[in-house]
Amino acid sequence: METALTRLVGVRHPIVQTGMGWVAGPRLVSAAANAGALGVLASATMTLDQLRAAVREVRARTDAPFGVNLRADAADAGERVRIVVDEGVRVASFALAPSRELIAELKAAGVVVIPSVGARRHAEKVAAWGADAVIVQGGEGGGHTGEVATTVLLPQVVDAVDVPVVAAGGFFDGRGVVAALAYGAAGVAMGTRFLLTSDSPVPDAVKARYLAATVRDVTVTRAVDGLPHRMLRSELVGALEDAGRARALLRAVRHAAAFRRLSGLTWRQMARDGLALRHGKDLSWSQVLMAANTPMLLRSAMVEGRTDAGVMASGQVAGVIDDLPSCAELVERLMGEADGVLAVLEGFRAVR
Ligand SMILES: Cc1cc2nc3c(=O)[nH]c(=O)nc-3n(C[C@H](O)[C@H](O)[C@H](O)COP(=O)(O)O)c2cc1C
Repeated sequence: METALTRLVGVRHPIVQTGMGWVAGPRLVSAAANAGALGVLASATMTLDQLRAAVREVRARTDAPFGVNLRADAADAGERVRIVVDEGVRVASFALAPSRELIAELKAAGVVVIPSVGARRHAEKVAAWGADAVIVQGGEGGGHTGEVATTVLLPQVVDAVDVPVVAAGGFFDGRGVVAALAYGAAGVAMGTRFLLTSDSPVPDAVKARYLAATVRDVTVTRAVDGLPHRMLRSELVGALEDAGRARALLRAVRHAAAFRRLSGLTWRQMARDGLALRHGKDLSWSQVLMAANTPMLLRSAMVEGRTDAGVMASGQVAGVIDDLPSCAELVERLMGEADGVLAVLEGFRAVR
C-alpha cells in the first residue's frame, strides 16, 4: 500500500511502531522495520551513549529505515539531535512540539521530522515550522494523552494542515488502518499493539496483565506526574491516587533521585526538564518533581516486571488485544485485513 507516509520515509507499509520508553529498544524497532513498518526508538529513557549504541544496534539488525523519538524539551535535546544526524537516522519523532530551530537543523541534515501532537493548534504550529508530517494522538492512546477522541481529532487535524497526518490512539487491526485512511490519514501509528508482540522486550508477567485487561481496566490518571496519563488500573495507581500530598512528594523525591542516578543527568538538568514540562501548564512544584517519577515507575514494570510497583502505560486497545504475534505476523495480518476491508467497501460501490 503506497501513501504519502510510505513515500516520505521509504517504508513498505503505512504503519508506525511508536517510541515507548523502556519498550521500543533495538529489538522491537528492528523487528518492526524488518516487517516493513517504521520502527521508532524511544530515547528519552536512554543516556546519550546508550542512544548512540542503540541506533548502531538497530542498523546492524536491519537495512530498513527507522526513527528516533526525542523529548523536545529535554535539557540535552541538541546533543541528541546531533547523534541522530551523525548516525544518519532517517526520521526524528518528538513527544512534544520541537522548536523551529531543531526542526530546521534536522531538515538541513536530511532527517524527516515527524512530531507527535494531541491538538490541532500544535499540528498547525509544527507544520508551519517545517515539520514533514505529524502523528496525531487521540485520547484513546497510551501514555500522556489528551481528551479528544481520535475520531474527532484526526479529521480536524487532516483539515487543518497540508502535511501528511499519521493517526494514533486506538488502532490495533486492519479495519483501523482503512478507517484512518478514510479520514484522510497517510498511515497509522501504534504503541500498545506493538508492546504486545513477541518481539517486545517487556517481561511476560507484564504482558499477561495487558492481555487480561478489559477496556474498563485502562484509566487516565494525573496521580503519577500531574499530567493526564493513560495506563492500566493497578494497585499502585490506586495507592498514588489515595496518597496524601506529603507522601506523594516523598515518593517523588525518591524516584527522582533514582532516575538521576540511572540517567546520568544533573539535578540542574532535571530541574530544567521539570520547568520545561511545567511551562504553560497549571502544575504545582510537587507535580513538577513528580514528573521525574514517570520514567522510574515505567521502568519498574517494563524492565523489572514489577506489576505491583510499576506504571503500565497503555492505550484503551489493551482491552481488545488478546495475542502476542511477532511484528512480522502482526504487520502481515494488518495489511491483509486492510485489503479485505477495502474489497468489501469496493463491493458496496458496485451494488449502487
Ligand atoms: C508503555 C508506553 C510508553 C510510551 N512512551 C512514550 C514515549 O517515551 N514517547 C512518546 O512520544 N510517546 C510514548 N508513548 C505513546 C505512544 O508512543 C503512542 O503515541 C501511543 O501508544 C498510541 O496509542 P495506542 O497505544 O492506542 O496505540 C508511550 C505509550 C506506551 C503504551
